[in-house]
Amino acid sequence: MTNTASSPGLTSRSVTVELTGASLSYGPKQVLAETSVTVTRRSRLGIVGESGSGKTTLTRLVVGLADPTTGSVTVNGDPWARIRRGDPRRRAVQMIQQDPYAQLTPHLTARSAVAEAARVCRRISRRAANDTAVELLGAVGLSADEMNRRPRHLSGGQCQRIAIARSLAADADVLVADEPTSALDLSVQAQILNIFLDLAQSHDTGLVLVSHDLAVIRHLTEEVLVLYRGEVVERGRTMDVLSAPQHPYTQELCASAGSALIPSVAA
Ligand SMILES: Nc1ncnc2c1ncn2[C@@H]1O[C@H](COP(=O)(O)OP(=O)(O)OP(=O)(O)O)[C@@H](O)[C@H]1O
Ligand SMILES: [Mg+2]
Repeated sequence: MTNTASSPGLTSRSVTVELTGASLSYGPKQVLAETSVTVTRRSRLGIVGESGSGKTTLTRLVVGLADPTTGSVTVNGDPWARIRRGDPRRRAVQMIQQDPYAQLTPHLTARSAVAEAARVCRRISRRAANDTAVELLGAVGLSADEMNRRPRHLSGGQCQRIAIARSLAADADVLVADEPTSALDLSVQAQILNIFLDLAQSHDTGLVLVSHDLAVIRHLTEEVLVLYRGEVVERGRTMDVLSAPQHPYTQELCASAGSALIPSVAA
């Protein structure tokens, strides 16, 4: 691994993002109240809550796209603001966004986009980067023909797979995915979610997943935070929280999700 000399104690497989009493306000309006959570490549963390409850805000703090108004967010001890562009900690935490097209560069083919990430982040030759791109795009289910197309000639689900492959090319420890399938058809949603599950299991990649869909959260995460109006009102093991919610808001959320949450009892 490169660049570790400037980040004592860091290998690219040991990133730890720590939010300690982190809050965020826009002017006088606080949209996230003091939140503490630790994210590593072992994390399988779900974030749920109604629209406007602060889910995206929390993910933006985790990936360093926003700074907390009070409290701190550190990555292996340093705040995001002190971590330079080339530092391996930047590529260790990758965001997968809701809009499949907006996160890709329009003029790059799938293969070039993923190869570029591999070349820059892994510091390997063009040829090796190309081989890596083909391997990763194949792993997320793109055909050889699809790899050579630009985003506008691909479906939303295919673009989402490219974004995932690109994060892997960048050697991400942790993928932070904010409603990654909400723009996709139901059948494609399941495929993408299975890719996440596979990655978590086979590559040991951490996952922070925002979803409105509690069945998806139950399937893919081990721990969950429930946000309500910017506050974490409940947290714990996903199975425990969803099968026996304690806070009235979580109870309401689970009741409206209905039978999708009931662990496979015979129908
Ligand atoms: N740039 C901003 N300026 C002012 N307020 C903002 C800004 N970004 C977000 N907010 C407010 O912060 C609150 C939390 O927003 P956030 O996007 O985190 O919610 P969310 O839980 O992700 O919602 P959704 O499920 O609709 O995506 C909302 O009330 C939103 O209006
Ligand atoms: Mg959001």
